[in-house]
Amino acid sequence: MRMRRLRRTESLRALVRETSVEPGDLIYPLFLCPGEGVRRAVSSMPGVFNLSVDEAVREAEQAASLGVGGLLLFGLPDAKDDEGTGAWEDNGIVQQGLRALKASPASKKLVLVADVCLCEYTSHGHCGRIVETADGWTVANDPTLELLARTALSQAKAGADVVAPSDMMDGRVAAIRRALDAAGSNDTPILSYASKFASAFYGPFREAADSTPQFGDRKSYQMDGANLREAMREIDLDLAEGADMILMKPAMPYLDVIRAARERVGVPIGAYQVSGEYSMLQAAFEKGWLDRDRATLESLLGIRRAGADFIVTYFAKEAAKLLA
Ligand code: PBG
Repeated sequence: MRMRRLRRTESLRALVRETSVEPGDLIYPLFLCPGEGVRRAVSSMPGVFNLSVDEAVREAEQAASLGVGGLLLFGLPDAKDDEGTGAWEDNGIVQQGLRALKASPASKKLVLVADVCLCEYTSHGHCGRIVETADGWTVANDPTLELLARTALSQAKAGADVVAPSDMMDGRVAAIRRALDAAGSNDTPILSYASKFASAFYGPFREAADSTPQFGDRKSYQMDGANLREAMREIDLDLAEGADMILMKPAMPYLDVIRAARERVGVPIGAYQVSGEYSMLQAAFEKGWLDRDRATLESLLGIRRAGADFIVTYFAKEAAKLLA
């Protein structure tokens, strides 16, 4: 047997290629901020910006014309407080963005996904309500659920096609489903970040979203990076609570977890190529150490091959151009 026979020409290689990446598989994250005409560079993520709503609409139009599948929206509010009020306000930044995007023709081609979390909106930077206990502070699980449900509902009302809770509180999918159904938003799907690991690779995002915890870390709610079986239990629970799709995160250091999920469940699976994965590639590109175009596409192909149906990636627009 000679394996090289099928590698001889590009047309032969194309014929036997097992995995593909299409622009429509990609979801492009946007960081919305107050103001007009604002396009503020995020220093640790070359090519990523905080965008005012008008600028975000322009980005959306570009993304749509490139065939990108959807947008994932994060918000930087005017002001933060203890509870994260800005997350669910009727006139919150993501809600404003959703309304503007819905009014744009681009939204006919893009799935608008809203990230449901509180860390960008709380003064302490944690993903839930903080309470004091005998052992010090902690993020209180059950009192946070109501705030997350309120957030998801306000996003659905503002035009989100999908809500995506990323907080990692127990029971949040059920709480969000119940709130959506009770308000008549039965048709809004939940994409739950089912297995989200406490990762160093979120570092640059916290600059982009201004969401660094002001004390402690997220290890009491996000998962320990060593645990594959636990990730499967998280997925089972989120599906039992009513998640329509699951998101795995980060991607590259956890490709085995994506593969295991693929073999276990039938629901659509997304993977999030997170900020640190993006930034380390960008750093290598800047140094001339890696070929930008090839490494970008290879990083995405690996995630698809591991079993993800779609990928949240800051490379979405660039990759879509390369695939055109
Ligand atoms: C909010 C949230 C985070 C990311 C997505 N949603 C940050 C975190 O959990 O600290 C990270 C995304 C990225 O790094 O690109 N909880």
